[in-house]
Amino acid sequence: MIDRRGLPAGFTWGASTAAYQIEGAVDEDGRGRSVWDVFCERPGAVKNGDSGRIACDHYHRYVVDVALMRELGLDGYRFSIAWPRIQPMGRGSVNPAGLDFYDRLVDALLAAGITPLPTLFHWDLPQTLEEDGGWLARDTAYRFAEYAALVADRLGDRVPAWITLNEPVVHMVFGYAFGIHAPGRALMLDALPAGHHQLLGHALAASELRSRGLEVLIANNLTPVWPASASEPDRAAADAYDALHNRLFLDPLLLGRYPDLGAYGVSADLGGSVHPGDLELIADAGRLDGLGVNYYNPTRIAAPTDPSLPFTEVEIDGVPRTHFGWPVVPDGLRQLLLTLRSRYGTALPPITITESGCSTDDTLDDQFRIDYLAGHLDALAEAIAQGVDVRGYYTWSLIDNFEWADGMSQRFGLVHVDFETQRRTPKASYAWYRDLIAAHRERRGR
Ligand code: FCB
Repeated sequence: MIDRRGLPAGFTWGASTAAYQIEGAVDEDGRGRSVWDVFCERPGAVKNGDSGRIACDHYHRYVVDVALMRELGLDGYRFSIAWPRIQPMGRGSVNPAGLDFYDRLVDALLAAGITPLPTLFHWDLPQTLEEDGGWLARDTAYRFAEYAALVADRLGDRVPAWITLNEPVVHMVFGYAFGIHAPGRALMLDALPAGHHQLLGHALAASELRSRGLEVLIANNLTPVWPASASEPDRAAADAYDALHNRLFLDPLLLGRYPDLGAYGVSADLGGSVHPGDLELIADAGRLDGLGVNYYNPTRIAAPTDPSLPFTEVEIDGVPRTHFGWPVVPDGLRQLLLTLRSRYGTALPPITITESGCSTDDTLDDQFRIDYLAGHLDALAEAIAQGVDVRGYYTWSLIDNFEWADGMSQRFGLVHVDFETQRRTPKASYAWYRDLIAAHRERRGR
């Protein structure tokens, strides 16, 4: 077992957040409505009727939060930019106050010695674009590139690398296939165009970023897929899940083609959404300087029980579980990284872990999180020792925040937030991560 000391000298230590999950201030300074503002108003959509209306009030408290990051010793901070703050109507005119906020945030980060790593889209689509079809509409991809160019023009002089999209698969599946996230559509396999249009948007935005000399990454949610048994039906179901969850969003980017989903009744052009030239654009213009990997757990799959999907997800037994109930399998991260390397070979760009973390109950003494992070960093060090090029680790999350359909009930932060008072209190894991970063920095001599 290689320990965390095996991590390379130039390794980047980071933490991640996302706009709707922390900013609050949804009606301020000209911000438009997002699909999440609307979804949270739907009775029963979000646990306890919670919303991101106030969240961590980061919009007003970012100076305090950047001070926490500096104290932690972060090299990098991954945050997202709220499209409805920049273009309240999703197209056309710019809201200068929105750009000003991120300008101030970027300057505060740089003054603290932290490299900003913005994500352009972390699920908060302007509601006006949703009314025009959301990501089911091809036009949204073009609007996304227009927005990316506006933001890059303002911040590109200080921000070297950009993440276009966060987890297009989760946005497509939860938002458009199952309807448990905004915009709340339940289209099952008819949701696939929302995946393709996100990738097209990524490619168009990537061209804008690259033409300004900027680096481009995408953050994908990836999972090792474990067949429930060695039986043929379980293995076939696991292949289907792997194709729909992992390969659907990596094969086009890295190999220029979609996996063949014909056996599940899906047409090669994903319901007519893939136009001639799109795949070339995604593989070429969308080519990546780095791949962001968001890893939480493996997925165990058995033969389908419901005819509307080609697989069934089954429980992983005999492992610890997070407060959310997610299985804790650190070695899954090593397995995933090695699979990516063997699957994509030289087409695989350098990897950054852009999310990794767990929810715990409402405690400051979060030894569970320390063990979680230590285990995943050990697994990561092993993958690096086995030859995978991983450049950094951004834990999810810096602070407790609004966890989508689960509202404020799942706390993922290194820093506790009292949502009544907005008081921030570092947890035990914060001190542990700070000491880990400091020790690594000392060893690498800076
Ligand atoms: C990921 C999301 C992130 C957060 C974590 C727990 O899927 O990208 O916003 O909710 O899960």
